[in-house]
Amino acid sequence: MEKLRVHSGHKLFGSLKACSSKNALLPILAGSVLSEGEVTLYSVPNFIDIQKMIEILKSLGAKVTKFGDIIFIDSKNIDRFFVSHELGKDIRGSIVFLGALISRFKKACVSYPGGCNIGSRPIDLHLKGLKALGVKIVEEHGYLYCDGKDMKPTTFTFEKQSVGATQNLILASVMLNGKTTLKNCAKEPEVVDLANFLNRMGAKVCGAGTSQITIYGVEKLKSVNYQVIGDRIVAGTYLTAAAITGGDVEICNISPKYLFSVLKKLAYCGCNVVTKNDKIRLTATNRCKALQSITTGVFPKFPTDMQSAFLSLMAVSNGRCKIYERLFDGRFKQVPDLVKMGAKIDVNCNFASVFGVEKLSGADVSATDLRAGAGLVLAGLNADGYTTIDNVHYIDRGYDHIERDLSILGAEIERIE
Ligand code: UD1
Repeated sequence: MEKLRVHSGHKLFGSLKACSSKNALLPILAGSVLSEGEVTLYSVPNFIDIQKMIEILKSLGAKVTKFGDIIFIDSKNIDRFFVSHELGKDIRGSIVFLGALISRFKKACVSYPGGCNIGSRPIDLHLKGLKALGVKIVEEHGYLYCDGKDMKPTTFTFEKQSVGATQNLILASVMLNGKTTLKNCAKEPEVVDLANFLNRMGAKVCGAGTSQITIYGVEKLKSVNYQVIGDRIVAGTYLTAAAITGGDVEICNISPKYLFSVLKKLAYCGCNVVTKNDKIRLTATNRCKALQSITTGVFPKFPTDMQSAFLSLMAVSNGRCKIYERLFDGRFKQVPDLVKMGAKIDVNCNFASVFGVEKLSGADVSATDLRAGAGLVLAGLNADGYTTIDNVHYIDRGYDHIERDLSILGAEIERIE
């Protein structure tokens, strides 16, 4: 079992390119099933979740070839519409194969998705939307058996905004003959990127990034070469790492508008944040000021995926911060480990009260999920002595060698057995 060992005392300095967005790539990989030609994706990072999506594509009959970080997907000969429990159980992203396969085959069988253990993660909105499109769904033995032969375009309103459900419904309706209207859609950049990708293949998806998306069905989708957007959560994590160490870091390949709510908070903390085109530079000279409160929400509000990194930042900032987690009910799982490191945090359901201490104390801790794990790495950057984080495989789901990136910025961090 690999671990990360972090030693504090180094301010982060330098420049780094944010990798391509995991959460954009997952539905785009599923969407490649729809192309009658070849899909070429550039700068694909080596995340575990990406590897698993590629395994699923191969199991369906797609030919996937990798040259460095470029992948070629040839879905012409896909002849299976089944995602097994074995392949789907570990990643939440596998659920979007439902929309892609039903679009292409008018039938699909997909196991219930896995994913990070951050609380209950229902899929009712995905299923309600598909049913509204006329898909018949039988849930049996952990699988969703879907029959789409009577699918028709419709108007569907999501009860609440969901990134995955919006992506699934776009994929499902992209080749339906007629006009499908989706209301109360998620506006996250990863929804927009999926729509851009599909449109480059010949689809007609309009309005992504607003709450109403209209899809005009097309008969087929062609080849595409595509560069996915930069990962806003990876970029935000490294900027927060710079803030926590009092460093000076520039992240490129990231549109500042994707991170506006996060940058605003970092500026309130006393950091100097300068943005230019696809670059963000953060300079922190003093210990950060605690924010009064952080409330997570759907885009463009503060992202739940950045909450863990900010929990660590607030744990060493000057003052008290109230954190309200509004999306998931298991997102404070790193708190016991932070407390073990000397943090002063009280949690009550989805609310945490953080009283910043000047310095944490290095300890052996354990990642419980992807973002919580990254949060512990950040805490280790400002803790006396060594912090050892095990269960690194969680962090590897969404960071392509976090230790390499942070080392480039001057951190003392290594992967050990
Ligand atoms: C995606 C991201 C995840 C991020 C989350 C919120 C991927 C692979 N993951 O997850 O990193 O934290 O968006 O930005 O892109 N909900 C329901 N019923 C459903 C679906 C969702 O009640 O059928 C609820 C969820 O419990 C949550 C909220 O809706 O409270 C938003 O979840 P959603 O946007 O669907 O998150 P994911 O797409 O799973």
